[in-house]
Amino acid sequence: MVTEPLPETTDSLRRRESATCETLAVIHARRSVSTLGEPGPSADELEVILAAAAAAPDHKELRPWRFVVVEGEARQELGEILADALAKRLAAAGQVATTGQLDKERRKPLRAPTLVGVLCVPDTSGRVPLVEQLSSTAAAAQNALLAATALGLGSMWRTGSAATDESVRQALGVGPEDTVVGWLYLGTPRGPGHKPPRSIDLDGLVRRWQPRGSGSIGDPARHEPARRC
Ligand SMILES: Cc1cc2nc3c(=O)[nH]c(=O)nc-3n(C[C@H](O)[C@H](O)[C@H](O)COP(=O)(O)O)c2cc1C
Repeated sequence: MVTEPLPETTDSLRRRESATCETLAVIHARRSVSTLGEPGPSADELEVILAAAAAAPDHKELRPWRFVVVEGEARQELGEILADALAKRLAAAGQVATTGQLDKERRKPLRAPTLVGVLCVPDTSGRVPLVEQLSSTAAAAQNALLAATALGLGSMWRTGSAATDESVRQALGVGPEDTVVGWLYLGTPRGPGHKPPRSIDLDGLVRRWQPRGSGSIGDPARHEPARRC
């Protein structure tokens, strides 16, 4: 029997509207928090975060992303690897790393209880261009940040030598074809209060294409775009 879809009730419309508001609120509430302390995400929360990442748009379902979780003492070991890598980079440039420089590098992985490396491990068959697989992995990273925000955690997307230095990449098991799209730092915000949502200005960023010329739709309102909620 074919049935007509039921008209949406006011309640279901209200629920849908409120879910949309929550999603938009999370998107705009996400701000980088550079100082993060314990507790980090629990095992369950981390799974929620990584599942959100793996729900990213994915052309031909290649699942190009991989996640490297670094927690606990492994962070200290990663710090040693970063410090050694810095010493080698400076030595190659004829310089000697100072104790301060090495200590700073050593402490970097301690800026949060949980670090997640988001890697693009591309399918090289040519079915999907690399840029699309990188885009998909970046979308995975953003999904993870939004999930962390929704769970009340602080987060920050970083790169630096943990993403680019060849000796660090090797130590982390990152293959030569792989890209470290980012390191997500996750934990409980420390220090001064939350940063407010970023002020958004679409002016000059958007144009509506028409066959006989384009017109900006940023002007004249210079609008704070509608967040609706
Ligand atoms: C791919 C990528 C790499 C980034 N790497 C760094 C980084 O290594 N260090 C840093 O301070 N910020 C880095 N950022 C910027 C911060 O994550 C953050 O987005 C920026 O400071 C804006 O702050 P907000 O997220 O609170 O709006 C990176 C952002 C992206 C998208």
